[in-house]
Amino acid sequence: MTRETVIVIDFGGQYNQLVARRVRECNVYCEIYSYKTDIEKIKEMNPKGIILTGGPNSCYEPDSPSYTKELFELGIPVLGLCYGAQLMMHLLGGKVITPEVGEYGKTEITYSKNGVLFQGLPEKSVCWMSHFDRISEVAPGFEVTAFTADCPIAATQNVEKKLYAIQFHPEVLHTENGTEMIKNFVRGVCGCAGDWKMDTFVEESIRTIREKVGDGKVLLALSGGVDSSVAAGLLSRAIGKQLTCVFVDHGLLRKNEGDEVEAVFGEGGIFDLNFIRVNAQERYYKKLAGVTEPEQKRKIIGEEFIRIFEEEAKKIGAVDFLAQGTIYPDVVESGLGGESAVIKSHHNVGGLPDFVDFKEIIEPLRDLFKDEVRKAGLELGIPEYLVFRQPFPGPGLGVRIVGEVTAEKVRIVQDADYIYREEIANAGLDRSIGQYFAALTNMRSVGVMGDERTYDYAVALRAVNTVDFMTADAAEIPFEVLQKVMSRIINEVKGVNRVFYDLTSKPPGTIELE
Ligand code: XMP
Repeated sequence: MTRETVIVIDFGGQYNQLVARRVRECNVYCEIYSYKTDIEKIKEMNPKGIILTGGPNSCYEPDSPSYTKELFELGIPVLGLCYGAQLMMHLLGGKVITPEVGEYGKTEITYSKNGVLFQGLPEKSVCWMSHFDRISEVAPGFEVTAFTADCPIAATQNVEKKLYAIQFHPEVLHTENGTEMIKNFVRGVCGCAGDWKMDTFVEESIRTIREKVGDGKVLLALSGGVDSSVAAGLLSRAIGKQLTCVFVDHGLLRKNEGDEVEAVFGEGGIFDLNFIRVNAQERYYKKLAGVTEPEQKRKIIGEEFIRIFEEEAKKIGAVDFLAQGTIYPDVVESGLGGESAVIKSHHNVGGLPDFVDFKEIIEPLRDLFKDEVRKAGLELGIPEYLVFRQPFPGPGLGVRIVGEVTAEKVRIVQDADYIYREEIANAGLDRSIGQYFAALTNMRSVGVMGDERTYDYAVALRAVNTVDFMTADAAEIPFEVLQKVMSRIINEVKGVNRVFYDLTSKPPGTIELE
């Protein structure tokens, strides 16, 4: 299979994944490699185009990331962005300087009519600048194609050699028409047909999985999350009953979640595979009884999962492949070039392969970004409620119940969370909030219900908007929606007499309560 590919060479910029995402939005497959990748490897991949990303260094410093000049002589179109643009000029005989003032943020820009990447765009527009150094002289053979007040060379091109350099960041949405510019490069200059689509990905993957697996056996730990569900769907379409999925219901899933997973992947569901559901609820509650320390809770939940998976794997015996739901951001974050992917296990514990008898790992979603995984899931016929599932921590409700976990507390938080999710969906907010859930504080307080005094738990509602889950802000949910949720939880969930809304940002808070 030869796939039309554009390669992003990463120089340490903060937007490298975004560049690749934008290329893929143009229906062109794209992979990210470190600037340390040998040119021979790049040549072997025979890319249709190459994009050099931004980066925090000054390209003329001796120790700064660089690349061999040969890259620009391959006849393959190259687009340099920010640091990548400066490096291109520096290596080809232009000049880069560190001026007294840099340029940051939204900036008015003027494009020249000759600018190949700016065809079809307005002459004046807004771009996103974030640089200190700038190009002061273009390399021989280049012409200037854009300027701003503080940056006389905001873009430059050598049409004959198919080399393009842009000082600003078209990959950032603050740049108006940025995706158009990338499209002009990958579809126009590079001549990509744009055949990277999820229906073809699914077809191709089914074929390659069949080739790779042959008549071998594959084992997958299915968590019910988006990635492992889509991996299971894809493998099952490819190899049917040669796939066995082990789904451990640890009793810390959201309300009805275990049954929902079983309805799709179990007997009578839409897929053909061996599905093993392990109902380990009681086993978990016993292990967690009396444990209040958050880290210890996490550890117990993780270790118990390994033990259960191990027991099931022993029953199954040796398998040829262990499947994992690794996705492209995992590969990129585990070291560019991705020779060795992280072992992503159900509970982020790593180490599953130590005790499973298998020959090789198979990662059918390794090339996909999250939104592509979702699209592939829909292609496979997995229901939307699974495909658009919220991020959910491996230790499940264990980290949403402050203090000791009991069956009673799990019931309370499941019911409260169910109501919360239902009302958020009714208000049409379910796709616009990053992550939201109900949690159970360990606080009990006095209340009155009817004529009765109560002494019950307080539920905390959490909703955050976040780009990368490293920082987050509390989402603004309309007050009437919150009030409706509060009133329903208090009326419908026994054992709750107070509802709080958590306003805390991350940092200083975390997204989960524990
Ligand atoms: P925190 O609470 O650390 O959460 O701000 C950040 C994101 O990670 C998820 N999370 C976890 N995911 N195992 C996981 O697989 C965990 O132990 C875990 N703890 C938090 C959380 O849901 C949020 O999306």
